[in-house]
Amino acid sequence: MDRIVIRGEARLEGEVQVSGSKNSALALMAASILGQGETRLRNVPRLRDVEAMLELLRALGAKADWSGAHQVCIDGSTISSAEAPYDLVRKMRASFMVLGPLLARFGTARVSEPGGCAIGVRPIDQHLKGLEALGAKIRLDHGYVEVSTTELRGGRFAFDVSTVNGTQNVMMAASLADGETIIENAAQEPEVVELAEFLGRMGADVSGAGSDRIRIRGVASLRGAAHQVSGDRIEAGTLLAAAAITRGDVTIRQIDSSTLESTLDKLRELGAVVEAGPDWARLKVDGPLQPLQVVTAPFPGYPTDMQAQIMAVLATVEGSSVVTERVFENRFMHVPEFQRMGADITLSGRAAHLRGVDRLMGAPVMATDLRASAGLILAGLAARGDTIVNRVYHIDRGYERIEEKLRSLGAEIRREG
Ligand code: EPZ
Repeated sequence: MDRIVIRGEARLEGEVQVSGSKNSALALMAASILGQGETRLRNVPRLRDVEAMLELLRALGAKADWSGAHQVCIDGSTISSAEAPYDLVRKMRASFMVLGPLLARFGTARVSEPGGCAIGVRPIDQHLKGLEALGAKIRLDHGYVEVSTTELRGGRFAFDVSTVNGTQNVMMAASLADGETIIENAAQEPEVVELAEFLGRMGADVSGAGSDRIRIRGVASLRGAAHQVSGDRIEAGTLLAAAAITRGDVTIRQIDSSTLESTLDKLRELGAVVEAGPDWARLKVDGPLQPLQVVTAPFPGYPTDMQAQIMAVLATVEGSSVVTERVFENRFMHVPEFQRMGADITLSGRAAHLRGVDRLMGAPVMATDLRASAGLILAGLAARGDTIVNRVYHIDRGYERIEEKLRSLGAEIRREG
């Protein structure tokens, strides 16, 4: 099994390009089910999760494959099944986002419940509540969610919690429903905005995405469309945090820096010099860094997907910091691994209390989930000696060639296995 070996203490310097957004690409690929004809997505990252979504679309009967190094072509016209099997959905939770599009397209869908994951129970009640508000009948059957309707009708409802994929699932279903849908307490993440933009290219009528109130006027049909996927804001934040933990100077390109604001604000508060333009950002450390209070929250708050990375940085910053995880209930699996590397962290409830140490120590560590593994790699970049990150399949789910990108910035990092 692959593992990544890092010899720490190299200061990162230089420029690197950010890949396309995993979470946006996955939602747009699910949306392609809604359209007649071909969908062509450019700047799609080469990731395990994207492969899993392609495999699921093919299992439904779509023609779906790579048509270029970072381009996928999907033709949903040939879809013949509205069932997403357990074996495919269990590989990747985001598969659950085919529920809304299949229901809207075929009036019925049967999708395996995604179940919980390392970072939390992750219920789907809000997805179902939203589809029910559009007139869907919901049945749970042997681990599957079955939804059906004679006719999807526009409706008004409010999410009890801000949910990204829940908002996206309902937006996609409502785009072919009869009449107008108003979603209150909608998620405001950039991936929701990008999906609305893409649905617009397919012929849908969506407004208000990016705010907590989204209006969708249903249309009779949608067509395939072409779209350039935006840069991955979490990969971007991870690369800037890598610069911070090595006290380096790194510029990232091909990223809409407006999607990074809360991350850039936190890195500025840390004491790093942070500059940004429309499609780039730069972080340079030229003085001591400050301890921080970080609380994760839905967008535009500080992203939970950047929690492990900022914790790794704060483990090396003199003074007391507190990181509070408010989005997922079990997203501190990386803490025992940081402690193995000599980090001084105490957990109490949803808060991690850190006292910065002079130097982390290289050690063999175990990745538990995608973003935890990014945090471990960052800690390895700053540690004395070698860090061996095991189970790197987690990182391949969401980061394209991360070790090559870090090596291009001066890191001593290699993949083994
Ligand atoms: C998306 O997951 C992202 N995944 C996650 O990124 C990200 O961490 C998360 O949003 C939050 O930003 C994709 O887009 C593929 P949520 P999602 O529904 O939509 C609760 C990564 O590392 N909730 O916004 O599944 C839920 O338990 C991944 O790339 C309900 O209670 O997250 C959580 O506490 C990890 N009922 C909160 O809402 C529901 O029906 C937010 O989850 C749905 C969610």
